[in-house]
Amino acid sequence: MNRFENKVALVTGSSQGIGEACALRLAKEGADIILNGRKFDERGEKLIAKIEGMGRKAKFLAADVSKSKEVIKLVDDAIAAFGSLDILVNNAGLETKADFWDVTEDDYDLVMNTNLKGVFFGIQTFVKYCKSNKKAGTIINMSSVHEEIVFPHFAAYCASKGGLKMLCRNLASELAPLNIRINNVAPGAITTPINKDLLNNKKQLAKVLDNIPMSRMGKVDDVAAVVAFLASDEAAYVTGSTYTVDGGLTYHYEEQ
Ligand code: NAI
Repeated sequence: MNRFENKVALVTGSSQGIGEACALRLAKEGADIILNGRKFDERGEKLIAKIEGMGRKAKFLAADVSKSKEVIKLVDDAIAAFGSLDILVNNAGLETKADFWDVTEDDYDLVMNTNLKGVFFGIQTFVKYCKSNKKAGTIINMSSVHEEIVFPHFAAYCASKGGLKMLCRNLASELAPLNIRINNVAPGAITTPINKDLLNNKKQLAKVLDNIPMSRMGKVDDVAAVVAFLASDEAAYVTGSTYTVDGGLTYHYEEQ
């Protein structure tokens, strides 16, 4: 099924993990892909080769999305690369762990600028382009179950993902008249490098799995499938929503 024939997608932070899976899934279904990461390395090279092997175009644009100037240039360069842009997946994100009273301003800025400010100005650049070209668009933000549920010792991360929740809700109303849809995907615990400490700690991992009704970590492809749905015309009437991909974690009930 080629849901994304003649479409171009930009996926931020797509050298590894969920972003890589989203890029590959969209390419598999017909999209040309703009990959992004802070720097171009062999992972980017391999991904380009993989996507080109599927018969699609791919280009890697290095940019640090935590810097508004760089994210604006990234979106502009992505539009210029293949002459259009239809799908923006704001995936790049990070977390830092610390007791609240030890969080430094630098840590706070790093998390908020990457997870929220960069997304804000990336979307703004994309919307200006769609608006001036009278072009439809679709935006997917990689949020987290922590836009909804607490995560002690990750205060800035929760604040950034909570911000993404309201950004999505707010922009859905403002962008609907422009024929632009925006949705969030909220992964639970997914097997990616961001969770390497957890995956290496058997005791902690068992505790996490205890809280997941489906008793397993999520796979990157579980997330990419939902991103592809939201990016596609099958989600034509979906905007301003968050889709959780969490094996039941967020709303689970613990039997007493
Ligand atoms: P990851 O750490 O494996 O990949 C994140 C990618 O973003 C990396 O390639 C990294 O280099 C890139 N990135 C980070 N800061 C960047 C910047 N300033 N500019 C450009 N690229 C940058 O993480 P993962 O797990 O794939 O996470 C992707 C998204 O999913 C993040 O937004 C994360 O918060 C979210 N998420 C992940 C969950 C998980 O369990 N893995 C759970 C909930 C949300």
